[in-house]
Amino acid sequence: MRKNIIAGNWKMHTSLREGVALASALDKKIQKHEGNIEAGVIIAPPLTHLSLIKQVIKEERICLAAQNCSSEIKGAYTGEVSAKMLKSFGVNAVIIGHSERREYFNETDEILTKKVNLVLENDMKPIFCCGENLGQREEGTHFGVIKSQIQNALFHLPANDFSKLIIAYEPIWAIGTGVTASSEQAQEMHAFIRNVLKEKYGKEIAENISILYGGSMKPANAKELLAQTDVDGGLIGGASLDADDFFEIIKFA
Ligand code: PGA
Repeated sequence: MRKNIIAGNWKMHTSLREGVALASALDKKIQKHEGNIEAGVIIAPPLTHLSLIKQVIKEERICLAAQNCSSEIKGAYTGEVSAKMLKSFGVNAVIIGHSERREYFNETDEILTKKVNLVLENDMKPIFCCGENLGQREEGTHFGVIKSQIQNALFHLPANDFSKLIIAYEPIWAIGTGVTASSEQAQEMHAFIRNVLKEKYGKEIAENISILYGGSMKPANAKELLAQTDVDGGLIGGASLDADDFFEIIKFA
């Protein structure tokens, strides 16, 4: 059966010292409540923090993720970090296709396909993000948009690779805006996504994939969102920068 997962996307926030303090505060909270926490916990700190944070958290409590990786294996790509490098210092998952990367760094479906492949080849989990913008939601094209984002970047994968993915539905209009999708809107889209996966990979795989919701999730709205049948956790930006808030959300999952 699929697992509930709460993942924190720190984006470009925190100094190294703040990041280490945040990760270690979270690890301590989880340790203290061990046995009562059912969800899997993931954090995606900035790249520069990963190796030090790895040393202050316990892998069995918190899984370490990166926010991005290169679409190339290796070579003369100044400033890039490869999936293999991430794996070599203990990263277990990589966020791929976040709307901020699609929008500000022109990441196309083709680039995302390459990244997903490299993450899987290096034995890490892709956390694949999809989401429509406000215009698409208002026009009513949001279901088609999400379906094509998933199809274009992921449907080349064989079933055993596909089953390693985590999917995050993040409506762009809800990210960092304080506006959350209603629990009905989230459930409706998550059920749609699961159906798209079922048509391609069959019921068993579709039922076992965790589909996270992202977009202004916080302690005040997490309980209701997480109570939806097809919402299997959250990808949390702002509220993941506060250990107390993030831990509150973890407790609901
Ligand atoms: P937010 O970000 O929780 O700050 O809206 C979510 C995300 O971008 O993953």
